[in-house]
Amino acid sequence: MSLKLSVIVPTFNEIENIEEIVRRLDLTLKGIGWEVIFVDDDSPDATAQKAKEISLADARVRCIKRIGRRGLSSACVEGMLSSSAPYLAVMDADLQHDESILPDMLRALDQENYELAVGTRYMQGGGVGDWDESRKNSSKLATVISQKILGVSLNDPMSGFFMIKREAFDLCAYRLSNMGFKILLDIVVSSREKLSVKEVPFHFRQRLAGESKLDQRVIWDYFLLLIDKTIGQYVPTKLISFACIGAMGVVVHLLVLGVALNILKQPFTIAQSAAVVLAMIFNFNLNNILTYRDQKLTGIGFWTGLLKFMLACSIGALANVGVASFIYKDYGYWVFSGLAGVLVGVVWNYVATSLVVWPKKINK
Ligand code: GDD
Ligand code: MN
Repeated sequence: MSLKLSVIVPTFNEIENIEEIVRRLDLTLKGIGWEVIFVDDDSPDATAQKAKEISLADARVRCIKRIGRRGLSSACVEGMLSSSAPYLAVMDADLQHDESILPDMLRALDQENYELAVGTRYMQGGGVGDWDESRKNSSKLATVISQKILGVSLNDPMSGFFMIKREAFDLCAYRLSNMGFKILLDIVVSSREKLSVKEVPFHFRQRLAGESKLDQRVIWDYFLLLIDKTIGQYVPTKLISFACIGAMGVVVHLLVLGVALNILKQPFTIAQSAAVVLAMIFNFNLNNILTYRDQKLTGIGFWTGLLKFMLACSIGALANVGVASFIYKDYGYWVFSGLAGVLVGVVWNYVATSLVVWPKKINK
């Protein structure tokens, strides 16, 4: 049977679900030439090893193991790029996505000539099961934002369950942001021509085994994806993330300064120094968690990183003051001079820390 469908399954700590997913695909996709490609980010629970064991006995099972990397979207993209099948599906490993609609999705592409089939929770016949109110609301809010800001017309653009024709994927692959969790949204927005879409309803099920990786950070990832898809061609998204966190750092700075001066009655120099140090620690932490979550520093690396961050940012502060004073001396507009200093400082801090604190390299 010739290969028709690759099912891409991103995994992180999903060892308990691998066997079951292969078993269910085998049942559902009878009569169709299929393969499953697990894309695992070096899960500590040895998910990749498990997938590779299964693949020794079943050549329809493949596994890409990535090291020193994290990210749901980029994992899906690499899985899709590694496939030669004419149809590509993306599905979670925890069986929350109902695999029994895969044949319907395939029919929509193969026989009805749609380019994209989306597993949709928000339409007649679909649902989210027993989510709590806050998860329901945030999912709805994210959906409305993407419909308004990015002009997406799907009922469920946040869905992580879809099937696409390989040519349609290849056409948008170079423009993808590859960030965060929202790979479907990324594909839809990155496609030059509007894709013809068939929405197929399904009920989002309970996770079979293991834990969800979705946490508060996906909100930031989503914000960055929106930025990248709107002004990303002009400014690096990580720089925007860095600058936004810097702005929050200013608030922290002023809070600490206010408390140290007015409540703790410290002299100004001491209060200002404490504010500088605490704001830097705050900024370092937030950048480590949000801007560089894919390269997060831990253990001893965290402390050396913090030290390097403080050194780099001190040089940034000097540059900031230097440039601002220079402009002020010659032109005299204090707001303009101040902002120019801040701009130079932020860009310096961003570039220096991206090279020294969070360089692109593999840590194990
Ligand atoms: N390779 C890789 N790398 N896989 C990952 C990573 C990662 O960094 N993070 C998560 N995954 C895998 C998980 O192992 C799972 O198979 C799948 O991606 C989805 O992760 P979950 O942790 O189960 O996410 P969820 O159920 O909360 O979110 C799902 O539903 C959302 C809809 O509300 C995902 O499908 C989202 O994309 C979707 O928006
Ligand atoms: Mn899940």
